[in-house]
Amino acid sequence: MQNIQIDATAQSVISLLFKDAKFDGFKVAKGLTKMIFRPLQPKDMESAYLPVSQEQGEFFYKTIVENEFKSIVEFGTSFGISTLFLAAAAKETGGKVITTELLSSKAKTAKKNFEKADLGDYIELREGDAIETLANFNEPIDFLMLDGWKNLYLPLFKQLEPFFHKNTIIYADNVNMADCQPFLDYVYANSKVYKSRKIHQGKGELIVLS
Ligand SMILES: C[S@@+](CC[C@H](N)C(=O)[O-])C[C@H]1O[C@@H](n2cnc3c(N)ncnc32)[C@H](O)[C@@H]1O
Repeated sequence: MQNIQIDATAQSVISLLFKDAKFDGFKVAKGLTKMIFRPLQPKDMESAYLPVSQEQGEFFYKTIVENEFKSIVEFGTSFGISTLFLAAAAKETGGKVITTELLSSKAKTAKKNFEKADLGDYIELREGDAIETLANFNEPIDFLMLDGWKNLYLPLFKQLEPFFHKNTIIYADNVNMADCQPFLDYVYANSKVYKSRKIHQGKGELIVLS
């Protein structure tokens, strides 16, 4: 891959957000205590970033720019770290990112981060449950990033499948988590349609159409 430089303003905002995300460990541990009484819910992680890594973000950026992808969809915005990588790439290609976040407080902060990075014009943030916010989605998808609640990977993937084309690339994060297994089983069972491989130390699944 050629060396592509992410816009300096965007990268400086991303770096600041990564610094803040260093406190995630404590926040996640606190959220996990709720699991003693009931299944974990997105709200339990309201203050945690749970971000992709700089390496993953740079991979998204390069993949989008090198393929001149324009239509980018993301499930799971959180505070917007991954979205900023996607949007910095969309700015280069003349594309747009549609991202979706369940929690209002996270969506609100993410929007502020998009403005700080000067990338607001390249992002449409849909607040609410992705299954609903993307229900009327109706255009070809070049790049799909799955990073929301893991048990929704499969239903959302199936919902968006009609909009994949022969060059679509799908990246699913955290596939080493047990809740992603039904999604992986589906992709592997459809090996005539999809080719996939693990990436980023087994954390990500990179899927292309056969
Ligand atoms: C792992 S975090 C996303 C991290 C983000 N992609 C990043 O790299 O900065 C997952 C996010 O998905 C959100 N989420 C969970 N269920 C959702 C749903 N049904 N629809 C939309 N967002 C959801 C959570 O609130 C959480 O903020």
